[in-house]
Amino acid sequence: MADYDYDLLVIGAGPGGYVAAIRAAQLGLKTACVESRETLGGTCLNVGCIPSKALLHASELYEEVAGGHLAKFGMSFGKPSVDVPAMIAEKQKAVDELTGGIAFLFKKNKVDWLKGRAAFTSADTVDVAGKSYRAKNIIIATGSSVTPLPGVDVDNAKGIVVDSTGALTLPKVPGHMVVIGGGVIGLELGSVWRRLGAKVTVVEYLDQILPGMDGDIRKEAAKIFKKQGMEIRTGTKVTGCTVKGAKATLTMEPAAGGASETIDADVVLVAIGRRPNTEGLALDKAGLTVNARGQIETDHDFRTSVPGIWAIGDVIPGPMLAHKAEDEGIACAENVAGLTGIINHDVIPSVVYTFPEIAGVGLTEEQAAAKTTIKVGKFPMMANSRAKTNRQTDGLVKVIADAETDRVLGVWIIASVAGTMIAEACVAMEFGATSEDIAYTCHAHPTHAEALKEAAMGVQGKPIHI
Ligand code: FAD
Ligand code: NAI
Repeated sequence: MADYDYDLLVIGAGPGGYVAAIRAAQLGLKTACVESRETLGGTCLNVGCIPSKALLHASELYEEVAGGHLAKFGMSFGKPSVDVPAMIAEKQKAVDELTGGIAFLFKKNKVDWLKGRAAFTSADTVDVAGKSYRAKNIIIATGSSVTPLPGVDVDNAKGIVVDSTGALTLPKVPGHMVVIGGGVIGLELGSVWRRLGAKVTVVEYLDQILPGMDGDIRKEAAKIFKKQGMEIRTGTKVTGCTVKGAKATLTMEPAAGGASETIDADVVLVAIGRRPNTEGLALDKAGLTVNARGQIETDHDFRTSVPGIWAIGDVIPGPMLAHKAEDEGIACAENVAGLTGIINHDVIPSVVYTFPEIAGVGLTEEQAAAKTTIKVGKFPMMANSRAKTNRQTDGLVKVIADAETDRVLGVWIIASVAGTMIAEACVAMEFGATSEDIAYTCHAHPTHAEALKEAAMGVQGKPIHI
């Protein structure tokens, strides 16, 4: 290895970076991973996927009881109450266990954890906490951060205007929470605080929530969230925010222009998207540039324009999802080691962990119809026996197939366990399945998964249960 300190140095220990580092070490490369946070695991484990799912789970349990949903099963309880700090502390335990687990895995696999911020000094050298490290290969896996909204200043410590990180640690249930952005974060964290008792208003710039998802699914989801008591104001933009004492006042107007109005909130959650982290990396010293969206471009193998420098995860184009970052981490490490690491970017599922869950993979009906002639099969969860037994019948499954070849192009699901159900669709699509393949695969009864089989039968024009 001559004068290199490492075969591979990974910048960032999120799901992309830590997975790449472990895989590279498993493949025999001398590997280090630089992380500026106190703990490993990146956005996902510290302030993203994991804490949000912990609060979604806890708040769902609370709503089951407090919302009186268990009464129909003959169960009654005393007056329910919620101890928010205890709920937050339990969430933190899950986070600590998982971030500590990565530290253990680094030790086990002999990955050196370099603590501090990395900045390039040349194409193969970075500075970390005043020390210089030279590596034969460098993977940039620095992830993303909240996109700020001009005029709405986030102050998580104050807890009135917060981003997702602040919304994961509110000390008490706000009376009125206004969420700016009807995307994944807004709907998940809005759901958490609504279930715990807040009135939640979602303000979305576009004319529908959940951009990027299938049109039917977006409409159905909005209907369900409204039924749950969320107020959703689409086609509306926030133009300013003032904070006085413990209240915020937002000014908003129709997205297309028009009269403005104000709305008061105890907490404002800004969730209008995330942007790649490249500031402070001194990319210019490495000879790298970013595209118009601030992302680092790579080829199919995750090589940047500079030999020996690779990039993965939220910092490169594509959906900002932990499993996408992880899979890219594995594939990239394999490519660095001289193997062939491949990702099928056409089959990356996305899941919104609300209740019911919302999940999709592949093309939306709109995208598929623009490409080719399609056939669509739908099946309502209302007609699924397991959903009926559980008294959780909101939602549907939709299978989109190529009209000529019958190959499945996309699957969209709203169901209590949509996030689990979508895995079957991913495997089917990865293997190039037709809708007929799914329709003629035996599915256990009674399961939610039967709804996917029936939707596939619908593509064939012959579902049994509707
Ligand atoms: P990150 O996880 O952002 O990690 C990058 C790391 O690099 C960070 O720890 C950062 O501190 C470090 N870093 C940055 N610059 C430097 C530097 N110069 N030197 C050293 N270290 C540096 N995705 C899902 O798939 N499922 C979910 O349920 C989900 N829920 C989410 C909920 C919330 C509230 C949020 C905010 C995000 C959620 N996401 C979810 C998205 C997911 O967290 C990201 O897609 C994922 O973390 C991206 O992984 P990454 O490795 O690219 O970057
Ligand atoms: P998002 O892109 O999902 O949604 C942002 C929403 O804000 C969009 O609907 C957009 O139209 C709207 N918006 C933008 N500017 C606005 C404005 N000025 N006023 C009103 N609305 C405005 O981004 P979000 O929710 O912040 O999440 C960021 C990323 O984190 C997403 O890319 C997502 O992939 C990831 N994530 C994934 C989760 C999951 O997989 N379950 C959970 C949470 C986040």
